[in-house]
Amino acid sequence: MDFLTIAMPKGRIFEEALELLAAAGYQLPEEMEDSRKLIVEVPEEKLRFILAKPMDVPVYVEHGVADLGVAGKDVLLEQQRSVMELVDLKISYCYMATAGLPDTKMNDVAPRVATKYPSIATSFYKEKGEQVEIIELNGSIELAPMIGLADRIVDIVSTGRTLKENGLVEYEKIVDITSRLIANPVSYRIKQQRIREMAKRLREAVEAEVE
Ligand code: PRP
Repeated sequence: MDFLTIAMPKGRIFEEALELLAAAGYQLPEEMEDSRKLIVEVPEEKLRFILAKPMDVPVYVEHGVADLGVAGKDVLLEQQRSVMELVDLKISYCYMATAGLPDTKMNDVAPRVATKYPSIATSFYKEKGEQVEIIELNGSIELAPMIGLADRIVDIVSTGRTLKENGLVEYEKIVDITSRLIANPVSYRIKQQRIREMAKRLREAVEAEVE
């Protein structure tokens, strides 16, 4: 069967994206999200979902093993892969910001910035004309200023609770983040009709949500 394969992060984004697809008129079975399966097929709609880690979604799409993907703008900005961005799904809103201990200046000599997003952090400080050492971590970034590993962090803020509960404050907002529908350029050409149809229906569903 000629499936459209869509890579998505597991968890909340998958659920929200499924709701959007349902709102766009796709008939999806109930309780799709409950399964532990990593590949979920919906033959009635000729759709196949691949459930991946958020950072890996653009990898599957760039390599063409997924035609489409749902990826956060944070991941897209960080990785700059050869994928097409088709629709801002306006789900999973958060933003990227710098943060640190309250009332602290950056170290004059060799300021250090901890982050899971080294490329975004590098560009941000480069544009400001500040030379910093980037320390790449894989999570719990907020620990870094608390234990003296870094002067600042560049990280995602959603509710702001993690910063607050760890006694950190936000310094600069960098960019707003939402999830995007992305496509492999070759798939887009070969399966153009179905992909454009899905993008159009999703765009309409997003507009209806926003109104
Ligand atoms: C993200 C982010 C912050 C937190 C922000 O971490 O890195 O730590 O969520 O959310 P809040 O503003 O609602 O508190 P995630 O839970 O993805 O885990 P991580 O520490 O492994 O990156």
